[in-house]
Amino acid sequence: MASVRRIGILTGGGDCPGLNAVIRAVTKSAIFEHGLEVVGINEGFGGLIENNWRLLGDEDVSGILPRGGTILGANNRDNPFMFRTISAEGAVTYEDNSGAAIANLEGMGVEALVVAGGDGTLSIARKLHEKGVPVVGLPKTIDNDLHGTDVSFGFDSALHTATDAVDKLHTTAASHHRGMVLEVMGRNAGWIALCAGIAGGGDIILIPEIPYTFEKVVRSIEERRSRGKRFSIVVVAEGAPLPSGEKVHRAGPGGEKVPGGVGERVAEAIGEMADMDTRVTVLGHLQRGGSPSPFDRILATAFGTAAVDLAVAGRSGVMVALRNMRIDAVPLEEVVPGQRKVPADGELVSFARSVGASFGD
Ligand code: F6P
Repeated sequence: MASVRRIGILTGGGDCPGLNAVIRAVTKSAIFEHGLEVVGINEGFGGLIENNWRLLGDEDVSGILPRGGTILGANNRDNPFMFRTISAEGAVTYEDNSGAAIANLEGMGVEALVVAGGDGTLSIARKLHEKGVPVVGLPKTIDNDLHGTDVSFGFDSALHTATDAVDKLHTTAASHHRGMVLEVMGRNAGWIALCAGIAGGGDIILIPEIPYTFEKVVRSIEERRSRGKRFSIVVVAEGAPLPSGEKVHRAGPGGEKVPGGVGERVAEAIGEMADMDTRVTVLGHLQRGGSPSPFDRILATAFGTAAVDLAVAGRSGVMVALRNMRIDAVPLEEVVPGQRKVPADGELVSFARSVGASFGD
């Protein structure tokens, strides 16, 4: 008989394809493999603070494997350690509500909590673990920027979307002899841009980790022209600063600055300097939606079942990871804080250079 009888699951931060596959894997393996009960906490850490939860049975997770999003809801605002409240007058204050959140978990009868999230969510998971809550993390982000794992679930599906966009832009770019700039997500890391650039055969790849100049970008465009290629595909990561070092942002909720808009600036500059007709596509949240790829479904299933095994074994403060194609557990303090960047002199960059991609450097 396992000492853990009831397990909780929560999906925090932004959503991504594969969250439902993870919820399904956790629920089914908890019920069928270990005879546990499963509590689904709604709306990320918001639900933990507001005691918003439900029991999950096999029937609740049936058919959700291929579905995008999360049946539990997610939010990237609520943090039990810095809970935001807005007064009637509109004044914003933050308070530590972790005590109430932990009391709610006890009230739910949750003896181990599985938390799927990126670095923000897993930082909160780490703090809960330090306060004595048994917690196992799952690496979730399309940005692929978590330390401790070779890949996070959601990334491969986003990469499919971004690669499909590069493929589609190729045919129209070639017909019109245009410069096509594709801006992809990734926050401060260039994994999506780099990998979609390689997978789609992008000509110029601009990522935050490799400083570039417009002169070098234009030189690549001209060099392609000299070989009879009158179009160019530029894949730019939303977090890539301009050559001046300026980070391009758009206004987010509450005046917050969120990355976005660099594609437009790059297109303007190269259009003028290379005398080229350019167009911009900002892929945006298409990368977060839709059905998970087969790889993400398998990864989410492996991660979810491994998380339950770890929780049942009494492990806490760890995140399930994929390292060298094996499922592993890494301490949360190795995972957060901080983001895993593309190594500028790493193999992937070198493969891309070998087939003629330019990084504008
Ligand atoms: O971290 C995932 C991510 O999609 C980033 O790539 C992007 O910058 C950000 O979230 C967008 O967040 P939101 O959905 O809050 O606009």
